[in-house]
Amino acid sequence: KTMLSWQRTSYHFQPEDNWMNDPNGPLYYKGWYHLFYQYNPDSAVWGTISWGHAVSKDLIHWFYLPFAMVPDQWYDISGVWTGSATFLPDGRIVMLYTGDTVDIVQVQCLAYPANLSDPLLLDWVKYSGNPVLFPPPGIGVKDFRDPTTAWLSPDGDKWRFTIGSKVNKTGISLVYETADFKSYDMLDGYLHEVPGTGMWECVDFYPVSTKEVNGLDTSVNGPGIKHVLKASLDDDKNDYYALGTYDQFENKWVPDDPELDVGIGLRYDYGKYYASKTFYDQNKQRRILWGWVRETDSEYDDLLKGWASVQSIPRTVVFDQKTGSNLLQWPVIEVEELRSKSVEFDNVKLGPGSISPLKVGSPSQLDIVASFEIDKDAFEGTVEANASYSCPTSGGAANRGKLGPFGIIVLADETLSEGTPIYFYVAKGANGKAETHFCADELRSSEAPDVYKVVYGSKVPVIDGEKYSLRSLVDHSIVESFAQGGRTVITSRIYPTKAINGAARVFLFNNATGVSVTASVKIWNMGSADIRHFPFNQL
Ligand code: FRU
Repeated sequence: KTMLSWQRTSYHFQPEDNWMNDPNGPLYYKGWYHLFYQYNPDSAVWGTISWGHAVSKDLIHWFYLPFAMVPDQWYDISGVWTGSATFLPDGRIVMLYTGDTVDIVQVQCLAYPANLSDPLLLDWVKYSGNPVLFPPPGIGVKDFRDPTTAWLSPDGDKWRFTIGSKVNKTGISLVYETADFKSYDMLDGYLHEVPGTGMWECVDFYPVSTKEVNGLDTSVNGPGIKHVLKASLDDDKNDYYALGTYDQFENKWVPDDPELDVGIGLRYDYGKYYASKTFYDQNKQRRILWGWVRETDSEYDDLLKGWASVQSIPRTVVFDQKTGSNLLQWPVIEVEELRSKSVEFDNVKLGPGSISPLKVGSPSQLDIVASFEIDKDAFEGTVEANASYSCPTSGGAANRGKLGPFGIIVLADETLSEGTPIYFYVAKGANGKAETHFCADELRSSEAPDVYKVVYGSKVPVIDGEKYSLRSLVDHSIVESFAQGGRTVITSRIYPTKAINGAARVFLFNNATGVSVTASVKIWNMGSADIRHFPFNQL
């Protein structure tokens, strides 16, 4: 298990060993943030899943706790799968989760804490009447999973939640209503459906304020509120969201823009990021998003190193009041506790085709904030003959255009034989209109064989007067990058063979042919999170 040990992250949540997937039932209770997670205690690949459990005071430093639930009943013996928590007004907590039965049928189950006076919520009771829901007629027995947090019905006396599924190739979200979490009615129709999107896993559904900056509890609805609907598409393993309006009387959600509907429009993250889930943090009145970041190396390597997957740094999600058409995701403020020594590079002039090394203290653990400006006259005077650009098909940072690419290169070695450029590419057509793309080029991120290497990315809205700005959290084998305050996000798993620990380097680059770029960068060394077993024996 010491093989490839430098790939372990230092401030992302991971179990000590073996396989982890989806975050489950996140919640804040009596001073502790709780994270449950899909965990296979037997191997570094997916298998029979239990619920791992960890707690934190700040979402950064964690204590591992004993498993919250293990597969020990006929209805979840093949796996205790993904679920969500709901707080009832009287302070009780209910956890709805999917059980994979002895016959490999997906059913919904209810669990609750045995002892609400225990801030650690160590003991979970599975309801004696489980399972509470079987797949309804017309729904496949393997297409019925991952219940959401519940919200109150319009008259406030019942709870509703949604469960993803599919009918033929149409992704759907079923809605159930319950007064007591023991007996349930399926509502007519679907909350929403999108043809061609396939099975919807890990659906999430929550309100965002279009006026305030705070997050909203799941039941809040009314003027000045939009609803986010998110589905994890089983077919392409990405998390797609859309903004829209929820009519609670009709129990229908309608997207603001049908062309940006769930599964065909926006993604939370254009890199490796899946099965995410939000929760309302009543401690700090914010909505926090957790996502599972899987490996992109081989299963063989995962078995060799004895573990697989990390959780993203939790992100605050808010509606982008400037664009009105997307969310903003940003690492929770607490991650900044890990910042220590910083260096600043102001107004670094990068001529066309230039590259400039940046001296930093702990090159594998960094928080990088950078902004870039293109000289205004040069920008005005330049057009690209072919302004169609797309990160995934672009060939990466080596391919030069008039107005891009420019950005940073992280986890590079001294000679740049390895490295991951995180960059902007501005495509300005003959009509004078510019589109900005934000990409992460992993093509030369590793010299190891069997590593999946692509260029990730998508468009990012840049408003007049804004600089191009990015933030990257670098942590050994993961880089989470946020453009324009979190309008477009890319998570990369990368496996350098040379650019490891202190041998890694950071560069600024401008590979545009037509313009100079001025960069300003601040880089913090990041400390390590303290993640260990809860010290029960010291109590
Ligand atoms: C998503 C998922 C969920 C399921 C769980 C099983 O990654 O497939 O749909 O509940 O993982 O581990």
